[in-house]
This record gives sequence, structure tokens and C-alpha cells, in this order.
Amino acid sequence: MFKKKKNEFKLPYLGIENEINGFHCLFNLKGDFGVILKLDNPVIQFSADSSKYDTFHQLYTNVIKILGEGHLIQKQDIFSRKVYSENNSKEYLQKKYDEHFQGREYTDLKTFLVITKRSKGRYSEKSVNDFIQTLGKITDLFERTGIKAESLNRIQTDRYVKRILSMNFHQEGIVLDNLLSEETQVESGDRAFRSISLVDTDKVELPEQVKTHLERNDKDSLKGFPIDNMGFLFDIPNFETVVYNQIIEIIEQRPIQTKLELKRKRHSGIPDPANNLCVEDIDRLLEDVARHNQLLVNCHFNVVVSAKKKHIQSACNYVESSLFQQGIVANKNSYNQLELFRTILPCNTAELKVYDYFLTTADAALCFFLKESLNKDEESGFQIRFTDRQGIPLKIDPADLPMQINRINNRNKFVLGPSGSGKSFFMNALIEQYCMWNNRPDPKWLMDVVIVDTGHSYSGLCQYYQGKYITYTEEKPITTNPFAISEEEYNIEKKDYLLTLVSLLWKTAEGTVSQVEADVISNTISAYYSSYFSEEGETKRLCFNSFYEFALDKIPEIMDKERISFEIDEFRFVLKKFYKGGEFENLLNEEVDSSLFTESFVVFEIDSIKEHKVLFPIVTLIIMDVFIQKMRFRTKYRKALIIEEAWKAIASPLMAGYILYLYKTVRKFWGEAIVVTQELGDIIGNEVVKESIINNSDTICLLDQTKFKDNYSQIASLLSINENERKKIFTINQLDNQDGRGRFKEVYIRRGSTGEVYGVEVSLHQYLTYTTEKPEKSAVEIYTNAFGGYQDGLDAFVEDFKESKVSLHSFFEKVNKRGIPLREIIMSTNYRIAL
Ligand SMILES: Nc1ncnc2c1ncn2[C@@H]1O[C@H](COP(=O)(O)OP(=O)(O)OP(=O)(O)O)[C@@H](O)[C@H]1O
Ligand SMILES: [Mg+2]
Repeated sequence: MFKKKKNEFKLPYLGIENEINGFHCLFNLKGDFGVILKLDNPVIQFSADSSKYDTFHQLYTNVIKILGEGHLIQKQDIFSRKVYSENNSKEYLQKKYDEHFQGREYTDLKTFLVITKRSKGRYSEKSVNDFIQTLGKITDLFERTGIKAESLNRIQTDRYVKRILSMNFHQEGIVLDNLLSEETQVESGDRAFRSISLVDTDKVELPEQVKTHLERNDKDSLKGFPIDNMGFLFDIPNFETVVYNQIIEIIEQRPIQTKLELKRKRHSGIPDPANNLCVEDIDRLLEDVARHNQLLVNCHFNVVVSAKKKHIQSACNYVESSLFQQGIVANKNSYNQLELFRTILPCNTAELKVYDYFLTTADAALCFFLKESLNKDEESGFQIRFTDRQGIPLKIDPADLPMQINRINNRNKFVLGPSGSGKSFFMNALIEQYCMWNNRPDPKWLMDVVIVDTGHSYSGLCQYYQGKYITYTEEKPITTNPFAISEEEYNIEKKDYLLTLVSLLWKTAEGTVSQVEADVISNTISAYYSSYFSEEGETKRLCFNSFYEFALDKIPEIMDKERISFEIDEFRFVLKKFYKGGEFENLLNEEVDSSLFTESFVVFEIDSIKEHKVLFPIVTLIIMDVFIQKMRFRTKYRKALIIEEAWKAIASPLMAGYILYLYKTVRKFWGEAIVVTQELGDIIGNEVVKESIINNSDTICLLDQTKFKDNYSQIASLLSINENERKKIFTINQLDNQDGRGRFKEVYIRRGSTGEVYGVEVSLHQYLTYTTEKPEKSAVEIYTNAFGGYQDGLDAFVEDFKESKVSLHSFFEKVNKRGIPLREIIMSTNYRIAL
């Protein structure tokens, strides 16, 4: 029909009607009219929940039923290759992040649903009004299922038609080039479009049975993972734009049934979708219709691929072989390429020939609909960037939005993964972004971060943000005076804290205090403060020393009066080491460095006392208390307390109550507590961890769990991980998504009951800031010390590394070996030899 050259490509439209009830109807030359809706497929890719595919199926079954006979739905899923370009970050490291991803190609998906009413050549205002009313019902139905379906207005419809016509959803601007109809494809400039029909209607070759989705079985770890029947469309190589055109025509039921019954008796030769069915097929169809109340529909599916001419063949081969793997033999007929191409124009299904359709039930047809969509940025004022599964930055809100929509009830997080799986690296990425808000010219949020670490994992980030890094040493222990409080501050919670502290000093973390002991200490604390506040006693200054002296008088008094026994000598002896002249005399008697309260970034590094049974828990407790004091002080700040392995020191029954209190208080003061751990043994079977930490952490972050695979049921039950979430968790680092990306690891983040997997991929500058590998850290430090500022150091490091042309690993080695920056050597003319 459209011969090469000179033929004018006539658009098949009469025009676009003015708006009626928010809808703009597009009229084709046959008088059919339709509306284009923009919506999203409801099943997010890799969401692992097979029931969602069924829900989709049910939803569209209902759409078809509401529409009824004489309507057509044309769903168009449009894939396009785009280039990432976001570069509006204000912060140094975030700018590097932008640069890292700048220019990266990715696949985008947009979905449109064109609903058309066949006019049969008759036009009446009433039929348009009826149609609009029905559309209202359809958008309502979508709305109720949580899908926003927006109808395109006149300008948008016009642009949509142009984009389809030029097969161009991958670029901003649209240029309409001439279309040339060649034998196997339509050509436009240096590009080619090819249409691949899913079904060759001359010989319907489809699998015996189709389900709403497929299950993966390509890798052990991914076995049973649900994916879309048409999921391969996301992975087509070398394409520019692909339109997956899915058409279902709801035909008049009575006549087609009669026809089928007739045909069962006698094969007729007139072209007709029903012609391709043999007797058994007809029997099966009629049975479905009769028994399961199924609708008979005509359907047509084609994938139109556009690519540069040199790539079109490989892109199409991929589509055909992927279809073949599912038992679908794509149509080899290519004689009507331009005709087929025209039929992907919205509302132009009238041009599909009767032989392009095949007859089946709505249920079967819907199995071929694309049901998946891609993850989208979360709309929020507090966004943090990780990447999606294909390696493109994705903005999520780990704090406010999920609270607003009741997905979570607190911001606390629990992070679990084996050693080296990237927990600290992930935390660095999170905290860097938390703190970037502080450096904005007009900060929307202010953020305070306190970290308790035992392995120097945050030293780079702390230097970058010029925070306070406090390393515990014997000469310079972390001190505080938990006893010094004003009368207003003295309340039941403070008293409980002091009771916990004194019990801990006495019995260590593993011990317990009896009821009598607890009551005696508690009474002593009350008496200590009332004597001080009433100025009746001898206490001059609130501190551990004066409390100790007071207790040694008061406790025998109580024992006498109440006639109870109490190990007073043991108490006196054990606590003496914290008293004047004792080994830890400063620990609880010197005020905390009050500048900590106004610091935004504080790291307490307590590696040196990790093995110290007495000090480790006490110091951890002290730091937590400093955090609580700071919280009350900085009411306008968001706050995060990150506790790496140190939580172990406090996860004892003695401190369970305190941890609960901490978690509760943190929530009330706009804060969050994050516990990071690798120790399975410590968390499984530990009631305190479960009751206080896990139950109060609505967000769970898991790094690669393959190492834990053997005891996964225990972890699953501890963290209440259901089967679907488990499937997602085992896709961490398992997809073939490394091509064209920097080194990265994935993390699963469950907010509330469901989670997603994200990539933690960062720029080289960020990598150097976050790395926890000792030799890497020291090489970076050599640069950052030599170049004055941290940023200058990083810049110089990256510059020299690039200039050196050696691998990153060997660059680290060379820097460490020399102990000074390699700049001079690299600048010298014979640097290669020198290196
Ligand atoms: N997302 C990532 N991208 C690139 N490299 C990573 C990533 N995550 C981790 N690494 C590399 O792995 C190293 C170890 O990671 P990390 O220190 O975060 O492990 P961890 O889970 O905290 O281990 P541990 O329990 O021993 O503290 C990092 O120094 C870094 O080199
Ligand atoms: Mg770590």
C-alpha cells in the first residue's frame, strides 16, 4: 500500500475533540474514538510477590468487563534508552556522585492505555458521552487499586502520536523524518523499525499453558523468583525505543459463539481469527466460556523495535529468541511492516486486518500483558540516593515518607550482614547523605550524628565533615558525670538510668540484681538527690564520688531499718575502682566535654576496650547517655545514633529496660537509632536483642546473606521475614547487572513489612572516603594529610591515580610504600620507570 518513496504517510485521524469531563477523545478516520491514559504497571520489577501478577490480571479482567462489547484496549508499554544526567548537587561528594553517573545509559519504561470505542461508521453524541462515562468508571477502578490513570490532553495526545510515529521516546525533541517502507523493516534516516508479531496467525504457535507470570530457574539463588512473561523486554540490547503493543478487542459474544459452534462442524475458508483454531481448541474455548464465565476476545500483540540500522538485527534476534524460549514462535512474515507499524498508532487498531487477530479468552490474552514497572523516585523532602537494579540513582526516603504513610512507626534501623559484606560502607553512604543537609546554604534539615564504632570505619567521613573523633585511650578516657543533673531533669527515667548504671558497675553486664538489691540502690539514689536538692545533707557536688560516699552511709542505714541483708562490702569493694584514687576515677566524675552537644558529627571509637568486660559496657552506656543529653539539647535537629558492634555490650537483661527507654526517647526527639551487626550467634536466641532492638526497628537493612543461608530459617523467624521477602533477599548481588558499572554491592532495605533491593554504588572520591580496608585508608590519609584539606587530598589522589595509569590496588600499594604522595614522581618525565 505504501510503496517506497513519494507516498504520503497519511495520519489516520480526524482530530481531537474538546475536553469532556477531563477526557480528550481522539477520532480516527473510521469514526472510532478513544482516549489515551497514562498509568503505571502495578508490579514493581523484582518485587518477588507472585500474587501481584494475579491481581493485575484480575484488575484488567475487570476493566474488560466494565468496557464490554465493542471496545478495544490497546496497552502500549514503551521502553526507551535514556542517558542519565543529573548535576544539581551542591555538596562536594554529591557532585562527584553526579559525575560518576553522568552519561550512563539506562532503560526507561512508560505505559499508556488507549481505550477505543468502535463506531461502526455511526457517530452520535450519546455514544461519546456513554463512552466518557464508562471511562470514568475505569479510572475509578484504577484509582481504587492505587493506580493513578491520567488522561492525555490535546497537546499531550498530539505529542504522543508524533513520538509513536517517529518511534522516539528516548530523546527530548521529536524530529519527524520520512518513513521508507523496505522489505523487512520501516526506515527513517539511519534508524530502522521492525515489528515482530507474537503470533503467526496462520499457524498459532503458543505454549500449551500460559500463566500470569514466569518463575526464574537460571540460577540456584533465583529459583522460583517470579518475573513477567514479557520481562525480557527490559533487557533488549542496542535498541532506542521499543513499543510493546497489546491489543484486546471485546467482540460480541453471541455471534462468535454461534460461529464457533458452526465452525466446529465445518471448517470454513473465509479469513477470520477463528479460522486458526482446530476442533480441540474450539472445544476448550467453549468450555472456558461456559464454565468459567470467560469472555471471548480478539487479540493481537506486536513488539516494534527501533534501533540504529546496524543494530536492528541483533535487537530483533534477542526478542525472537526470548519469545522462542517461552514456546512462542514469532511471526516471520514481514511483508506488511508499514501496515503493522501504523497499527501501533494509538486508536488506529481499525487498520489491523482481521487476519492479524487471533481469538482466545480474555484470561489467556491478559497473560501476555506486561505487568511490571520500574522503581521510581520517592516524592519527598528528605531523599537519599542509592541505585536501582540497573545502576541508576534512585531517590528514596528512609525516614519521613514511610512514617507519613504509616509504612513504619519509627525510624530505627537494624543492619545485618557478614563481615566484609559492606555494612559500614553502606552506613557511610547513608550518613554522608544525612549530613549533607547541614552543608547546604539554606539547610532544610539539620542533622546530628553520633557513632559508636569499634573498627575505625567512619574516620574518613568524620574528617570530611570535620567532625569530632574521640578515640578511647587509657590516658584520655571518655568521661562523663551522669549524676550531675538539675532538679527539673531528675525524673523516673533518669533514676532508672542511674539504677542501671550502678547495677552495671557492680555486677557487670552479664550479672543481675535481685529485687532487694535494686530497691536498696533505688532508695539510695532517691535519698541522695533529695538530700542534695533540699540542701540538708553534706553532698557538695553531684558526682559518682559523692554518691559513693553517700551510699556507703545510707545503705547500712536501710539494712538496719528494714532488717534486710545486702552485700555492702562487696558493693563497696567493687565500686571503689570508680572512686577517688581508683583505677577509673575520672570516668564518672568529670563532666562530659560540653562542646559535644553542639557538634554535628561525633564518632566515639572504642576499639581499644572492646575486650574489656568492665569498661566496654559502661563506656557504651555512657555514650548513649551523652546522646540522650544531646538530643534534649538539640531539639531542632534530626538525630541518628549509630552503634556498630558495641551494642553487644549492652544487650544484656540488666540493660534491656534502658535500651527500650533509649529507643522510645529517640523517637520522641526526632531521632533514630541504628544498630549494625555481623554476629549471628549474638542475635539468635538473644531475647534482649529481639524484644528491645529488633522489635523497635521498623527498618531492617540486610547485606548479602548467602553466608547465612544454612541458618536462614532462624534469621527469618527472628526478623519476621516472609517467603516473598526472602526471595528478594537472595537476589542481593545475584543479578547480571554489573556491566558498565563501577564496583558496587547491593542492600535490601525493608521499611515496614516489605522491602526493596538497592545498589550501593558510589564515585571514586566517595569510595576513598568510605573504605574500611586498612591499607586503602592509610594511602588516602597520606594524601589528605599532605594536601591540607580533605577535599584537596581526595582531588590530588584521584588526579595522581588517573595520571599513573596503574590499577587502583597497585596505586594504594605504591603510595603506602613511599609514605608520601606520588605527585612529584608522576609529574617527572620518566615517572613510569620510577613507579
Ligand atoms: N558498595 C560497595 N561498593 C564498593 N566497595 C564496597 C562496597 N561495600 C563494601 N565494599 C568494599 O568492601 C570493604 C568491606 O566493606 P565493609 O567494611 O562495609 O564491610 P562490613 O560489612 O562492615 O564488615 P565488618 O563486619 O567486618 O565490619 C570496603 O572497604 C570496600 O572496599
Ligand atoms: Mg563494618
